[in-house]
Amino acid sequence: QPSKVIFSGIQPTGVPHLGNYLGALRQWVKLQNEAAEEPDTAVLYSIVDLHAITIRQDPAQLRQWKRESLATLLAVGLDPDKSMLFYQSNVSAHSELMWILCCTASMGYLSRMTQWKSKLNLPEDASPIAELTKSKLKAGLFSYPVLQAADVLVHGATHVPVGEDQAQHLEFSRTCAVNFNAAYGKVLRQPTTIISPARRVMSLRQPHLKMSKSHEDPRSRIILTDSANDIHAKIRAAVTDSIEGVSYDPSARPGVSNLIELMSHSLDGKHSCEELATDCESLSMRAFKERVADCIIEHLQPIREKYHDVLNADGGRYLQETALKGAERARQNAAVTMTRVREAVGL
Ligand code: ADP
Ligand code: NA
Repeated sequence: QPSKVIFSGIQPTGVPHLGNYLGALRQWVKLQNEAAEEPDTAVLYSIVDLHAITIRQDPAQLRQWKRESLATLLAVGLDPDKSMLFYQSNVSAHSELMWILCCTASMGYLSRMTQWKSKLNLPEDASPIAELTKSKLKAGLFSYPVLQAADVLVHGATHVPVGEDQAQHLEFSRTCAVNFNAAYGKVLRQPTTIISPARRVMSLRQPHLKMSKSHEDPRSRIILTDSANDIHAKIRAAVTDSIEGVSYDPSARPGVSNLIELMSHSLDGKHSCEELATDCESLSMRAFKERVADCIIEHLQPIREKYHDVLNADGGRYLQETALKGAERARQNAAVTMTRVREAVGL
């Protein structure tokens, strides 16, 4: 395995939204392109379909979402010659290492993690035993962080770009490595987090909440493949406030400030939010929103075009072959860890 290994994953839950892009995918592309210039570095990005099934999925829908996710990764600028792009379930070492890690991972630690609680809409202090008896809690959902740990550790990842909301999970991954190594010797590498420098993108409808695919109102988020008309309509419907003029003040004016941030990101950060606010100061809210929408549309247009090109290229075979090629390389990278793990454990 190379001395530097960058790994991250994204769930196949349809085409990602602007928050996923600005908070995660854009950084993936940057890291990929920097790594291409560095010796002894590998980059792996996985579409984590095994994570998606902790919640019941429609099989045809899931397959479609996987293709859409891969097409999006290619559309935003990930390059299969520079990064290993693959479906998690095509590299069985992820599941195999998960089981082995389960045998040294702490139930107590897992029960304090918040993912299973938020997916079941349970309070922070919910106990797994209570939820087991109500049988809402499935073993897969509860042990999801162990699979995440396996994803990272099986590839010997040294650098894991994640959003700040995911830092807890990477901490758990490190603990999994420590527990395993304490039992069997120094086999697994310790990953370090790269927290995305981007701020959180907020919901267009509830600007005190982050933009998320789980919010019901589809106008709360911009999908990377939205048409110009969709984007105009969603920005027009964005919740702002009744204060006169445009100014940048995230705590007093979260809605307006979120739009300014989106504009700044769309212009590749060349203008600060304060500068843009001054430029737009005297605009009506309506004219300001038109300008924000135009910036976003222009920024997303090449992504949308590339997405449609790759999704249907060669009758879908281009995507299929890209996934298989990525999986083949990822399997070889994972095999290095698995050989050492099996040897250490006695398998
Ligand atoms: P969602 O919140 O829509 O379910 P995920 O949890 O699947 O999104 O997140 C995928 C990646 O996108 C993570 O790295 C996460 O940190 C990032 N991300 C998600 N929503 C946002 C947001 N609103 N702003 C910035 N980054 C985000
Ligand atoms: Na989330």
